[in-house]
Amino acid sequence: MASTREQLITLLSSKSNTFVSGQWISEQLNLSRTAVWKQIKQLKSDGYVFEAVPNKGYRLVTIPDKVSENTLVWGLETKWLGREVEHYSSLDSTQTLAKKRALEDGHHGLVVVADKQNKGKGRLNRYWESDHDQGVWMSFVLKPDLEPSHAPQLTLLTAVVLAETIESISNVTPQIKWPNDLLLDGKKVAGILTEMQGEQDQIHFVVIGLGLNLNQKNFSKQLSEIATSLCQHTTHSYDKNAFIQAFLTHFEQAYDVFIQHGFDQVRNKWLTYGFRLNETVSYQVGKKAKTGQIRGITDQGALIIENDQKQEYIYSGEIDW
Ligand code: BTN
Repeated sequence: MASTREQLITLLSSKSNTFVSGQWISEQLNLSRTAVWKQIKQLKSDGYVFEAVPNKGYRLVTIPDKVSENTLVWGLETKWLGREVEHYSSLDSTQTLAKKRALEDGHHGLVVVADKQNKGKGRLNRYWESDHDQGVWMSFVLKPDLEPSHAPQLTLLTAVVLAETIESISNVTPQIKWPNDLLLDGKKVAGILTEMQGEQDQIHFVVIGLGLNLNQKNFSKQLSEIATSLCQHTTHSYDKNAFIQAFLTHFEQAYDVFIQHGFDQVRNKWLTYGFRLNETVSYQVGKKAKTGQIRGITDQGALIIENDQKQEYIYSGEIDW
């Protein structure tokens, strides 16, 4: 369920070329006139620009892409995820800071967000371009009561929730390239980095980092071949606060279901987004090059590839996508 703030922003954005009265808004959102006025006042202080004309009402003119601890928490209706938020205009890496906080006893559900990262990290220690404020650069701490072998499921859960959030906000359907990439028309729109600390049979904490290309209008020549943003793909911009809030709300619900009922629902959803599902791919196991059809994912989060009517489970192997 979208927060009141999200609903108001969606409503006003959909009517941005006309004036709407406070009365009309209060009827649409089932809020009192005072509550509408308070919400609009808060939006103004967060940098939303309105044109207000007596007897006509309000028209939303500009949506800011400004994020703060206040704007992130205000209207967020989660129980545990994002109840504690740290926001920085510039940071080396939200992932590094979230891990530091987790080690210092940072809570389950702590969220770290930065406008820009100077040392954004991707998987396999790759550099993640995030030295500008048009994307969502965020990490959060989880302290699940799970065995370490289940940690890869959290990456797949995050990928599914991110795909659903993108779909609900923009109406486009991304694909999930196992294990951690989200694609639009074959180009990367988001990546997920999961890092864990634990012992043999107990996770101490997991930090999940996600990088989403949200509002970039263009990319460097090198990246434009392989990367896209939601804005580039749909030709309009998105409110970063609303996106983060929607993601946190979806994630909390999906995580609680996963912890209570297990991985089945995640797997079923994953199958609806899986990239190149049932197609033939080339892949490598050790030094051996093989081909086979992608069939799905296991309970452990491994990729299932069918080769000569036998199923092979890939945990971290190289797939030639
Ligand atoms: C990948 O595709 O390799 C994963 C990219 C993950 C990037 C995010 S941005 C927020 C968080 N902080 C980082 O330094 N990395 C992750």
